[in-house]
Amino acid sequence: MCGIVGYVGKKSVVGILLDGLEQLEYRGYDSAGVAIKTEDAINVYKAEGKLGNLRDVLTAHLSEVSSSTVGIGHIRWATHGAPSVINAHPHTCNCGNLVIVHNGIIENYKELKIELEAMGCKFRSQTDTESVAHLIAAIYDKEKDLTKAVHIATQKIQGAYALCIMHNDFPKKIVATKRNAPLVIGVGDGEYYIASDVPAFIKHTKNAVYLQDNQVATITNDSFKIEDENGKVIEPKVEVLPWEPVALSKMGYKHFMLKEIHEQPDIIRNILVGKIKTSDSPIVLNEVNLTRETLKNLNRIQIIACGTSLHAALIGKYIIEDFCNIPVDVEASSEYIYRKTVTDENTLVIGVSQSGETADTLTAIKQSKARGSHILIITNRPDSAMAREADSLLSVNAGIEVSVAATKSYMAQLTSFYLLAIYMAEIKGSKSAESLKELKAEMLLLPQKLEQILTQKQQIQACARKYANTRDFIYIARGINYPTALEGALKLKEISYINATGYPAGELKHGPIAMLDETMPVLSILMNGSVYEKLLSNSEEAKARNARMIALTNSNNPKLNDLFDDIIRVPDVVELLSPLIAIVPLQLIAYYIAEFLGKDVDQPRNLAKSVTVE
Ligand code: G6P
Repeated sequence: MCGIVGYVGKKSVVGILLDGLEQLEYRGYDSAGVAIKTEDAINVYKAEGKLGNLRDVLTAHLSEVSSSTVGIGHIRWATHGAPSVINAHPHTCNCGNLVIVHNGIIENYKELKIELEAMGCKFRSQTDTESVAHLIAAIYDKEKDLTKAVHIATQKIQGAYALCIMHNDFPKKIVATKRNAPLVIGVGDGEYYIASDVPAFIKHTKNAVYLQDNQVATITNDSFKIEDENGKVIEPKVEVLPWEPVALSKMGYKHFMLKEIHEQPDIIRNILVGKIKTSDSPIVLNEVNLTRETLKNLNRIQIIACGTSLHAALIGKYIIEDFCNIPVDVEASSEYIYRKTVTDENTLVIGVSQSGETADTLTAIKQSKARGSHILIITNRPDSAMAREADSLLSVNAGIEVSVAATKSYMAQLTSFYLLAIYMAEIKGSKSAESLKELKAEMLLLPQKLEQILTQKQQIQACARKYANTRDFIYIARGINYPTALEGALKLKEISYINATGYPAGELKHGPIAMLDETMPVLSILMNGSVYEKLLSNSEEAKARNARMIALTNSNNPKLNDLFDDIIRVPDVVELLSPLIAIVPLQLIAYYIAEFLGKDVDQPRNLAKSVTVE
């Protein structure tokens, strides 16, 4: 997956493309490139590595392109071919007159390559994308109509793509198209922006058109036309975007991740406003379009997600089963889509995704929809492809999350799961009104408790630094906090590259205990409640193997002082809500370790925030 941008207008294009790419770095950052129309040619500039390298290349060539007003750009997360200048986009046909940028995967690129080589095309890169450049150029040579050539070419290509194409015959034209990958056109005053995502142009215009699959847009400096796959012109639907550019600033924090961790108390407040009015009144969740009848007849729920969203889903399972008495399965989308799954109209399928565009989850959702299940999507992007598949849409409203490691979106997903579970329990009458009332009252207190944790961040930082040089890290928990252990470990892995693993504490003795010695830190998520004593015993077992013991706890038990080398204390909270509290110190531990080690916290190596390839 990658990010693409384009601009046709009256302003100098170089800065617009570079700034747009910077906003899309969450989609990939292993190499970047631009193609810029000059008076008699299209110049291509590329660089391996972070976007700064491309900035340096362009600074050195600024005089060649500073007056240009048309161009396309790309930031890459390599799928086919290593990150290198040759494999970086834009790719060109052999004569260099046609250039393209691409996000997605061309599945039949090998077949296309054989055909095109037989026609005399010379391939230079190892990418799947280059075949599309040669293909469109070959068709254009016959048709002499760029839009038509794109229509014909897209009928031959299989896979997922968002494409922007320029040709030297047209000094002020970009043709764009997409299938199963996002592409949005920003409509300015005498200018147009094209991008994989809104942040790339939100500071210039809030008016936008989301291109639909198989549509082809032809954009010039003073017009744009959208055609459906049959070439029929379509009236574009211009939307006013809700995003504010200020959301993309670090607001004085060293990294976006730290800023986003600090936003969490307010995110919970914002989600709860209007949904929990008082602890006595029922949850208001107008977004859920399930009738009371359907809700009562549900015999099964399946939750599908990837990465951090999968961990939120595991907690969702725990609370929905507890509150609503409905069996819930949780599965990684990448597994779900390649086996026979049993769903029908009495199965509720919940897709969880920060970005709303993760390819595996999107495919899984489409499969379940085809089988007649009600699709409920929990996402931070109500404008995403997944949201468009939803029968019910729970928008988590965390604001744009820039850091690749998800924090505030996880908190927002969890909060939404609690609301959903209570809402369903109220309708089904499956949990006592008194216990739901207590839970709602406790939820309203969560923002203050999170703020209290954030005031102790120096202590957490000091603790994190003590463990920064470890090679491995184990997180243990039981019950509702087992997914918290998985998520804490994932955060540490993602940004510090320390090999961290989360285990259900009862499993420690079935293998992992063999790894314990005086070099291994074991962090125990020891929250008051039903599994507290059991987890205490498991922690003793780890201590007996000389592990370095850390507790994350809301317990004041004096015994802990002997058992643990370090104790991170969090405010008291009922067990059912403890995942919302326990995750914050774990996010901070991961952050401070990575920051101390000098890692690229917001853009860890090899990762991308939005994974649009299966
Ligand atoms: C990528 C990101 C993760 C994220 C996962 C799922 O791997 O790096 O942080 O959890 O995708 O993304 P989604 O947008 O579907 O929640």
